[in-house]
Order: sequence, then C-alpha cells, then structure tokens
Amino acid sequence: MTETHQPTIDWDEYWRTADADDHESATPSAHHVREALADLVAETDGLDSFADVGCGPGVVTFDVAERYPDADVVGYDAAEAILDENRERAADDGLDNVRFERAVLPEFDPDRQYDLVLCYGTLAYVTETEQALQNLYDAVAPDGHLVLGYVNEFGAAQFRAQHADLQDSDDPRRDPDEYAERFGLVMAEESTLSFDVVRNALGTWPHSIWEIAAKPEKRWAWGHVPLVYVPKPEATVQ
Ligand SMILES: C[S@@+](CC[C@H](N)C(=O)[O-])C[C@H]1O[C@@H](n2cnc3c(N)ncnc32)[C@H](O)[C@@H]1O
Repeated sequence: MTETHQPTIDWDEYWRTADADDHESATPSAHHVREALADLVAETDGLDSFADVGCGPGVVTFDVAERYPDADVVGYDAAEAILDENRERAADDGLDNVRFERAVLPEFDPDRQYDLVLCYGTLAYVTETEQALQNLYDAVAPDGHLVLGYVNEFGAAQFRAQHADLQDSDDPRRDPDEYAERFGLVMAEESTLSFDVVRNALGTWPHSIWEIAAKPEKRWAWGHVPLVYVPKPEATVQ
C-alpha cells in the first residue's frame, strides 16, 4: 500500500477495492474533457507530449495516447493501485507511447516539461493549492498549456447540499461520513479555486476552455467545475 496525500481518503485503498460504480464516481473527466482537449490541440500547434496529473483510470490519458500516437504521454497518480491497473491496460492494448508514474501533489517535479499538462478533478483533494499550481505550471513547456478542472465556490455549495441530502438516505453506498471524508476539503472551501486564485499563483490569467470548445449542456461542467487553460509564454530569445 502507498500513502496518498492527507487529509482525504486513502486513494490507494479506494482504487484497490473499486467496483464499476466507484470507477464512474471518480472519473469526472469522462463527461466532456476528451473532446474539449482535442479542440484545444486543434487550435494550437499539435501535441508532442502530454501529462495527466491525478489521472485515475486514465480516461483522458488513454484517449490522448490513442488520438496522438506520436505523442509521448504520461499519466501520474498518487495511488499505485490505479497505476498498476493502467500499466496492465496499456500493455494489453499494445500502446507503447504511454506510461504511468507516481506523483503526489502538491509535489510534482518531473525531469522534463510537456506541451500540455492536465489536472482534472484532483486539486479538490489537495490543500497546498498554490504550490501545486506552480509545480504543475513549471512542468509546462514554453508555448504550451496547463489545463485545470477544479471545483469553485458554487461547486462547494453543491457538495454541501448533496451531503445534507445524504443524512436522510438509507442507501448504504451513500454514507454521509464517507462522503464528508472524501469531499471535506471542498465542502470547507479549503481546496476550491477561482480565476483569481489561479492568476495570483501563476501570474497569468486562465481562459475558459469553452471559448474555443463546444460548451456541454450540463451546467456543472462550466458553472461548478470550470475547465480552464493557462497558456505558458513562449521562450524569449536572448
Ligand atoms: C476524482 S479522481 C479524478 C481522476 C481523473 N482525473 C478523472 O477526472 O477522470 C482523483 C484522482 O486523483 C488522485 N489523487 C488524489 N490525491 C492526489 C494527489 N495529492 N496527488 C496526485 N493524485 C492524487 C486519486 O488517486 C484519483 O485517481
């Protein structure tokens, strides 16, 4: 067992025992992120390298590896259990442009930079937001992009409302204490983000990805869990 970032649930344990419902519950990127990223890449200079930090079962990681077979793709996660599962799938699928490595935010210090770094649905579980954002942005190559999917204050209110609803539920899968353990940081707004927080941490304003990609119908996809990209300036020639 590996130790994942505290204070939140033990993600290694989560993935070791996860059934199909647990997979679905912890893969929010599956709804609209793949198409939006493809639209972003189409707007830019293509993609040679991609990092998915907090990749979970790699919904986006595998999609990018398949869409861009010449790109070097790396999925990072804190939980060894899901990294092992992903490595097995990559071998079964014969994908040789994707690999999986362990990283535990807020620490993130790969020995290289990537054209595109994605962190979706993971910063909710990290308290040292500013440090995590800076480390993620440092891993973006000049002229590349950091893409973030984060919970904002409206999302936090929705998590609190859902938690309140669970108090009356008799569904054993929806235990209010487990919910509070997993989403406690978000509910307490200790890990929520905003355009201002991202700008203050990185010195660059984020842009909503829906300026360039087709906006999904689901309101939460842009109202509560914004998907933004932060461009990295081109390298200056001395
Ligand atoms: C809700 S899942 C999101 C997975 C994927 N990004 C998606 O949206 O489909 C959060 C993932 O972040 C990982 N995680 C949690 N805390 C982390 C941390 N501090 N550093 C890196 N990964 C972390 C968990 O193991 C889990 O796979």
